[in-house]
Amino acid sequence: MNAFDAIVIGFALAALISIVFTSLRVGISPMPSSRKAQQAIISAIPQNTEGLIFDLGSGWGNVVLPLARSFPLATIRGVEVSLIPWAVSQIRASLSGPSNLNIERDNFQDISLESAEVVVCYLFPEGMTFLEAKFKKELKPNTLIISNTFRLAGWEPEEVITLDDIHQTPIYRYRVPPK
Ligand SMILES: C[S@@+](CC[C@H](N)C(=O)[O-])C[C@H]1O[C@@H](n2cnc3c(N)ncnc32)[C@H](O)[C@@H]1O
Repeated sequence: MNAFDAIVIGFALAALISIVFTSLRVGISPMPSSRKAQQAIISAIPQNTEGLIFDLGSGWGNVVLPLARSFPLATIRGVEVSLIPWAVSQIRASLSGPSNLNIERDNFQDISLESAEVVVCYLFPEGMTFLEAKFKKELKPNTLIISNTFRLAGWEPEEVITLDDIHQTPIYRYRVPPK
């Protein structure tokens, strides 16, 4: 093995360790939404949306990039805590991302969702429990919430899209009720 090989392997190992440790810490790996899920998420959002669309835990950018292309009048904000997926999504956005896309490295627990028009997420049951309380506190009435796979306990979805895949994956669409 030469020095170049050793450096490449060292970087790959460090990246892998970073992904594994962050996944264990936050409770979920950066598994991307499938192409079918991306399309269903886009179809669940009104075409004329002009406000702020969040992807909470934006991973490698697989949802924020198509969202930014599909909703050119909206502002898309991805929030990702894991360093490597965030860095890759930043590179993807700078190479091919539209200018209405912003991806920040942060914990979504620490950001305000008050100005959101749409919130998208693909998380895990405990993450949804945390968000349920945050949504109640911060989201305006009528805000749309689109969740890949995981439901919001105690909320009635206004639509459930069932994907034509082996898991029959549900995509839930909720609307924040009036106060
Ligand atoms: C299953 S992936 C979904 C990625 C992307 N939204 C998609 O659908 O392709 C979930 C992502 O949420 C991130 N995540 C989990 N908890 C988070 C938190 N508190 N703040 C920011 N990101 C978080 C994880 O690091 C992971 O990349």
